Amino acid sequence: MDKSTYVREMFATIAPKYDLANRVMTAGIDESWRRRAVRELGISSGGDILDLCCGTGDLSFASARSDRARRVVGVDFCEPMLKVARERNAEFSDRVSFVEGDVMRLPFEEARFDGATMGFSMRNVVDILATLREVRRVLKPGARFVNLDVSKPPNPVWRSLFYFHFYKVVPLLGGLLSGSKSAYAYLPNSLTSFPDADGLAARFTEAGYRDVRYVRLLGGIVAIHVGTVADR
Ligand SMILES: C[S@@+](CC[C@H](N)C(=O)[O-])C[C@H]1O[C@@H](n2cnc3c(N)ncnc32)[C@H](O)[C@@H]1O
Repeated sequence: MDKSTYVREMFATIAPKYDLANRVMTAGIDESWRRRAVRELGISSGGDILDLCCGTGDLSFASARSDRARRVVGVDFCEPMLKVARERNAEFSDRVSFVEGDVMRLPFEEARFDGATMGFSMRNVVDILATLREVRRVLKPGARFVNLDVSKPPNPVWRSLFYFHFYKVVPLLGGLLSGSKSAYAYLPNSLTSFPDADGLAARFTEAGYRDVRYVRLLGGIVAIHVGTVADR
């Protein structure tokens, strides 16, 4: 089975319990990380924002909540995750919508969006560079792509503590909460081959973004990368 199919099926299995597992395993801090990521879009009011790998919609809703004039399109290739997102969408249904699609082949024309976000998903895509280029294609010149994901803390002691949590506690807790041990055994492994914060920033630059920067949160357990689309 290829990685895409495996990832899609894995998220389909855990979709109904995904939000609960997230809240418990991050003690709810993930909400503040999402608000911070949305601020990094640097858009004061309005605009069309694309939320990539939107899952059950947490980052899409955080984006909509941050500005009443903002329109958000969430895209994900796992229909059961999108089903949960649509069920949660009562408050914002006039300006938040969810579309099925693969972020490596986005179903949108060039330069359609004023900004894009991605939350906790870059580790899951088959080809990071191709994804970054595809996101750049659908963004307007000057628009930012903000990526929020788990990262590798630079301090070795803190990194060891975090890895213990991520590689040992998360699979156990996630398996119990979601009812799928195998899904939460995969998730930590998605970090192993993922680049560290500098490595991911280098991919942004290679994919053609300018003013690439990142901010580490919680000692680097999580990082927010920001890249701006240059004029074409
Ligand atoms: C860990 S969840 C993150 C969901 C959400 N962004 C959040 O912050 O909670 C990862 C999501 O990425 C989606 N995904 C992974 N690869 C994808 C791809 N190539 N195209 C579209 N969605 C993808 C999965 O279906 C899943 O819903």
